[in-house]
Amino acid sequence: MKGMVFTEFLEMVESTFSADMVDDIIDDSAPPSGGAYTSVGTYDHQELVGMVTALSARSGLPVPALIHGFGTHLFGRFHALYPRFFDGIPSAVDFLFGIESVIHTEVRKLYPDAQLPSFDCVRRDDGLDMVYASPRHFGDLAEGLITGAIAHFGDPLGLTRVNLPDGSIRFELRHKS
Ligand code: HEM
Repeated sequence: MKGMVFTEFLEMVESTFSADMVDDIIDDSAPPSGGAYTSVGTYDHQELVGMVTALSARSGLPVPALIHGFGTHLFGRFHALYPRFFDGIPSAVDFLFGIESVIHTEVRKLYPDAQLPSFDCVRRDDGLDMVYASPRHFGDLAEGLITGAIAHFGDPLGLTRVNLPDGSIRFELRHKS
């Protein structure tokens, strides 16, 4: 996973908890890379899971909630770092419909070694269905990112998560009437 995901995570931990907490979760999880992340590097995503698990143990907050919260935070950071991806996009459904065909395709041009998930998106009259699949199983991260997108655009959309038997997840976004 790209180093920017790690640096953004540790910056969030520092601002939400403390710099000591950053040191503690790196010590606790003993990441094989050593824990000195650079945004251009690439690291095993299990190191992120290890640090989140350590943060959960120290904070008492559940791992899924921490990953979901990170996803929402990360969406705001993506908006700050990649504003051009938002040019001319009017709504959360339009943005999310293009997550694979536009956004992550552009990400892959910037970072050819990015390990990206797949999103199978189907527009509906009343919203959007997105089926998320990834060998990294970051469904909570995906849910947090989608929640961040809905909040960013301010659209009145409800979000339902359906865990499918094959391990993929269908996110159902529906306009609130
Ligand atoms: C401007 C917006 C976005 C940018 C620039 C962006 C970029 C990235 C980057 C750089 C990674 C890391 C790839 C790697 O580690 O190798 C990533 C991963 C990921 N992205 Fe996006 N992303 C954006 C929006 C979103 C949104 C809205 C979603 C949800 C619908 C999403 C879902 C994910 C997930 C779940 C991962 C983790 C990898 C996995 O699950 O396998 N991203 N993205």
